[in-house]
Amino acid sequence: LEIAILGTGAVGRALSSGWVDAGHRVTLGSRHPDRPRSPLAAPVTDLATAAASAPIVVYAAPWSAASELLEQIGSLNGQLLIDCTNPLLPRLEALDPGAKPSAAEWFAGRLPEARVVKAFNTVSAATLASPRYATLPATQFFCGDDLDDKRQVAQLIADLGLEPIDVGRLSIAHCLESLALLTIHLAVHHGQGDCVLKLLRRAAGAPIQ
Ligand SMILES: NC(=O)c1ccc[n+]([C@@H]2O[C@H](COP(=O)([O-])OP(=O)(O)OC[C@H]3O[C@@H](n4cnc5c(N)ncnc54)[C@H](OP(=O)(O)O)[C@@H]3O)[C@@H](O)[C@H]2O)c1
Repeated sequence: LEIAILGTGAVGRALSSGWVDAGHRVTLGSRHPDRPRSPLAAPVTDLATAAASAPIVVYAAPWSAASELLEQIGSLNGQLLIDCTNPLLPRLEALDPGAKPSAAEWFAGRLPEARVVKAFNTVSAATLASPRYATLPATQFFCGDDLDDKRQVAQLIADLGLEPIDVGRLSIAHCLESLALLTIHLAVHHGQGDCVLKLLRRAAGAPIQ
């Protein structure tokens, strides 16, 4: 697949590295494409060029930068936007009340010509890079409204070695954002360190629906 990742931070690095290893063609978008930095797994260009370069665009920049960054890239024409953000307040103790009903739906409202899937927000960048906990793969929840998009995102999750779990339509994204808040609370404020919430079930679960 051809994928553009906006943001060269911890999440952009983990996703690009894993997907290049899985054989995908990745371009990273940056505010400073020419600035010296530690090596990246994929080529870097400016944000607008990256966003126009692929049918799948991953938003891996801070929530606080979203308005400004969308102005720089313009519209996404018929593209899939994967929203990784956690719309947290600066001290990581609560969700931004401005992200109502969710950051994912805010993106969908701002980009009516794109389709949005929420994913990669409920595990840490460290877990994206190293997804196994003992013998179990970390669970990566995702949601969205288009079945084909969700199949692609499920594959991209599996390509990183995580277990994809579809949680439903984009309107449930606020639950994934709250779930990330709980995980971050456990990791940062409650002594659990890097951790992940794992789905355990008694029988095989429902397919993507
Ligand atoms: N870190 C995690 O463990 C984790 C896990 C799950 C989800 N998330 C979410 O994923 C997103 C990326 O997380 P991250 O930890 O990779 O973030 P980060 O390291 O703080 O920043 C990601 C990148 O966004 C770009 N960026 C564009 N506009 C920016 C602005 N105005 N201010 C700062 N950076 C800007 C920067 O790349 P350039 O300098 O190249 O432009 C920066 O390196 C966030 O929304 C976060 O909530 C993070």
